[in-house]
Amino acid sequence: MRSLDLLVAASAAVTSVSATSPFHHRRSREVTKRAGTNVIDASQLNDSYDFVIAGGGLAGLAVAGRLAEDPSVTVLVLEAGMSGDDVADNINIPGYTYWHSLWGSDYDWSFATTAQDGLDNKPRTWPRGKVFGGSSATNGMYFTRPNKEEIDAWSTLLGDDSYADYWTWDSFYAASKKSETFHAPTDEAEAVAHITYDASLHGTDGPIHTTYPAVSFGFNGNWTDTCVAAGIPPTTDALGGDNLGAGITTSSINPETWTRSYSRSGYIDAVGSLANLHLLPQAHVTKINFNGSTTEGLTASGVTFQASADSAPATVTANKEVILTGGVVGSPHILLLSGVGPKDVLDSVGIEVQHELPGVGLHLQDHVSTAVQWTTSIETAGTVNASGSEYAKSTEFLSYINSANAYVNLTLIAGEAATQNLTATAATYLDTYMDFVPSSDETVKVGYKAIHDLTVDFMAGWVSQLEILLSVTTDGALIIQAGLQHPLSTGHLYLSSSDPFTQPAIDPGYLNHWADMFILREGVKLARAIGNTEPLSQFLSEEQYPGSAVQTDEDWENYLRTSASTEFHPVGSCGMMPLANGGVVDGSLKVYGLANVRVADSSVIPFELSSHIGSPTYAVAELAAQIIAKDHSTTQANATDASSSSSSASQNNATTGDDTKNGARSLSLPLSVAGLASAMFACRLFL
Ligand SMILES: *[C@@H]1O[C@H](CO)[C@@H](O)[C@H](O)[C@H]1NC(C)=O
Ligand SMILES: *[C@@H]1O[C@H](CO)[C@@H](O)[C@H](O)[C@H]1NC(C)=O
Ligand SMILES: *[C@@H]1O[C@H](CO)[C@@H](O)[C@H](O)[C@H]1NC(C)=O
Ligand SMILES: *[C@@H]1O[C@H](CO)[C@@H](O)[C@H](O)[C@H]1NC(C)=O
Ligand SMILES: *[C@@H]1O[C@H](CO)[C@@H](O)[C@H](O)[C@H]1NC(C)=O
Ligand SMILES: *[C@@H]1O[C@H](CO)[C@@H](O)[C@H](O)[C@H]1NC(C)=O
Ligand SMILES: *[C@@H]1O[C@H](CO)[C@@H](O)[C@H](O)[C@H]1NC(C)=O
Ligand SMILES: *[C@@H]1O[C@H](CO)[C@@H](O)[C@H](O)[C@H]1NC(C)=O
Repeated sequence: MRSLDLLVAASAAVTSVSATSPFHHRRSREVTKRAGTNVIDASQLNDSYDFVIAGGGLAGLAVAGRLAEDPSVTVLVLEAGMSGDDVADNINIPGYTYWHSLWGSDYDWSFATTAQDGLDNKPRTWPRGKVFGGSSATNGMYFTRPNKEEIDAWSTLLGDDSYADYWTWDSFYAASKKSETFHAPTDEAEAVAHITYDASLHGTDGPIHTTYPAVSFGFNGNWTDTCVAAGIPPTTDALGGDNLGAGITTSSINPETWTRSYSRSGYIDAVGSLANLHLLPQAHVTKINFNGSTTEGLTASGVTFQASADSAPATVTANKEVILTGGVVGSPHILLLSGVGPKDVLDSVGIEVQHELPGVGLHLQDHVSTAVQWTTSIETAGTVNASGSEYAKSTEFLSYINSANAYVNLTLIAGEAATQNLTATAATYLDTYMDFVPSSDETVKVGYKAIHDLTVDFMAGWVSQLEILLSVTTDGALIIQAGLQHPLSTGHLYLSSSDPFTQPAIDPGYLNHWADMFILREGVKLARAIGNTEPLSQFLSEEQYPGSAVQTDEDWENYLRTSASTEFHPVGSCGMMPLANGGVVDGSLKVYGLANVRVADSSVIPFELSSHIGSPTYAVAELAAQIIAKDHSTTQANATDASSSSSSASQNNATTGDDTKNGARSLSLPLSVAGLASAMFACRLFL
C-alpha cells in the first residue's frame, strides 16, 4: 500500500497550492524578527535583578515579558536549556514537529516516569522542551480551552483565599484571551477541513497568534460529520467555555509567516530589545538561597545555578522575588532541592529541611491516552512528507499539523446508566482509594478528597472526560486517539537523589484507579466506533492496532496496560490550594511559608483540565504577571522609600479580569504495540 503507484496517485490528489494562491507571495520562510532578543551570556550577568525567574519555558518567558513592560523593574530569566537559535527551523516550522522533531534531542529533558503499576509495571517517556519557550517550542501547538465549570471549581477550591476571584472562569478567560491574537482560516483550509469558528470567543491582540494550518486533508473534512453520525454533537468553536463536541480546533501558528507562535516569539522577540530584561540560557537553577525570615516566612535572597553538572555554581540576587517557572517537574524539583517540601522526601535523600511543606510534588496528575490505527490508501500528510515532492517542501504544506478533535462527557462515552453507576461506585470507593494516596500527611489527603469529589461531580455532569483526536500524519495510516481528561488516580513527584542533575522520580499513577481504566476503555471503544462510522469508514481498510482480536473488556484493558502513555499535559505538582488541603501555593501564587517566592506555571493548576495544557498555562502566566504587579504597586504605594514608588502607570491598571529513553519502553512491549508506540513517537501525535 505504500507502493510508488499509490504515492503517485495520492500526490495527484493533493490539494496543491496554485499560482493564484494567497500564500504565493509568502514563500520565504521568514521567522519572527530576532532583533535584540535580550539573550545574554554569563559574562553580561548583573549581580542582582528585581525578579529572578527560574525557567525560560512557556510560562517563564510569558511572565518575564509581561513584568518587563514596567521599565522600572529589572527581570532575569535563567533557562537550563540552550537558546534554540541553532535549531530555529525545527522550532519555527510547524510541520517539523513531526518531520524533524526535537523529541529525544538535547532540546528535550527526556524524563521518564517510574515503573507504572497500572501499565504492566513499565515506565513511560515524558518529553518536555528544554529550550527557550520550553514545551511551547516543541509541542504540537494545540490551542484549546477547558470548560467554564472546571475553572470555577478551581476558584471554589481556594475557599476564602483573597485571590480566589483571579481563578474564576471570567478572570481566567479574560487572561487567556489577553494571551491570544486569533486569525481566521485560509479559504482553502476552511473548505477542505470544514472549519467553523466564532471569532468573538477569541483574543484579538495578545502575543500568541492562533489560527489553522494553511492547507488541510479530506480526512479532517470528514471528521465532524463522522463524529455526529457516531453520536457526538458538533461544536462551532470550543474556545468559549463550553468545549464539548467535535470540530477543528485552533493552533498556535502565526499566519503572517506560517511559523510556530510560542512564548519566545510572542512575549519576547516580538517586543524586541529591552533594557530591563536579561535571558540567560544554559543556566540550570539548582536551588533557592534563603537569608532570613520575616513574619511572612523565609526570605529568598536569590538562586544558585550551574551551566552544567560539571561546571561551577554561581549565584544571582533577587531584590524582590524569585519566581519558579520550571514546569511540572522543574518547579517542585527546585523547591525540594532547596529544602522546601515533605519531610520524609527530604530526609530520604539527606536534604536539610528549611521549610516543611507536605504538598510539594503531591497531587500530580496527567492525561493518559491510547489509540486505534487503520491502514488507508488515501493521502495523508505523512504521504506527502514521504513523497519528498516540491509540495512537501512548501511553506503551506509545512504549516500542516493535526487539529481535528472532540471533547466528550461521560454520558456520550458510556451512556446514562453506566454514568450513574460509575459516579455512585466511585464515591463509595473513596475510602479504599485513600490508601493509594502517596502521602501519610492528612492535609494532602484532604486535598485529594476535594479533588476527587469535584472530579466525580464533573463525571456526572457536562464536563468533558475524554479528548478524541484525529491524526493524519502517518503515511498509509489513520489514527484516532483517546485521552482521559479527569483522572481519579493521583500521582506524585519525589526525589531519588539530592543531585540536582538527576531527574526527580515522576510517578503519575496512570490508571491506578479503576474508574480511570473504565473511562479510557470505553473511550477507546468510542474511538474505534468513530473509525467504523461513515463517511470516514469508507476510506479505511484494516484495523492495525489494536486489531480485531481485541473485543472484550478484558482485551481492551490489556491493550491499555501495554499501549497507554502520556498525552503530555501534566499538572498539579505545586497545586494551588489552601494549605489545609496540602496546597503549595496560595491564590497569589506565593509558596506557603516563603515570603518572596512564587510558582507561576502549569504545576500550580490543581487538577487536570479538559484541555491541552499550553493555553491554560499562558492564562496562568498572564494572571501571575497581573497579581505580581498589583502586589508590588500596593507595597510601593505604602512604601516611604521614594526610589521604589515609580512603578509604571500601566502596571497599576492590572485587574483581574491570566525519559528512560523510548527504547526502554518499546522493547518491553509486545511487537505490535511497540510498532504503534513507535509510530506514535514518530508522529508526535498527542502534543
Ligand atoms: C472525506 O475524505 C475524503 C478522502 O480524503 C475526501 O475525498 C472527501 O472530500 C472528504 N469528505 C468531506 C465531506 O470532506
Ligand atoms: C544591568 O546593570 C546595568 C548597570 O547597573 C544597568 O544599567 C542595567 O539596566 C542592568 N540590566 C538589567 C536587565 O537589569
Ligand atoms: C536577604 O537578601 C535580600 C536581597 O535579595 C535583601 O534585600 C535582604 O535584606 C536580605 N535579608 C537579610 C536578613 O539579610
Ligand atoms: C518524512 O519523509 C522522509 C522521507 O522524505 C522520511 O525519511 C521520514 O521518515 C518521514 N517522516 C515521518 C515522521 O514519517
Ligand atoms: C456498576 O459498576 C461496577 C464497577 O464497575 C460493576 O461491578 C457493576 O456491575 C456495575 N453495576 C451495574 C448495574 O452496571
Ligand atoms: C453530555 O453531552 C450530551 C451531548 O451534548 C448532552 O446531551 C448531555 O446532556 C450531557 N450530559 C450531561 C450529564 O450533562
Ligand atoms: C497597603 O495599603 C493597602 C490599602 O490601604 C492595605 O490594604 C495593604 O495592606 C497595605 N500593604 C502593606 C504592605 O502595608
Ligand atoms: C489605565 O489605563 C488606561 C487605558 O489603558 C489609561 O488611560 C489610564 O491612564 C490608566 N490609569 C492608570 C492609573 O494607570
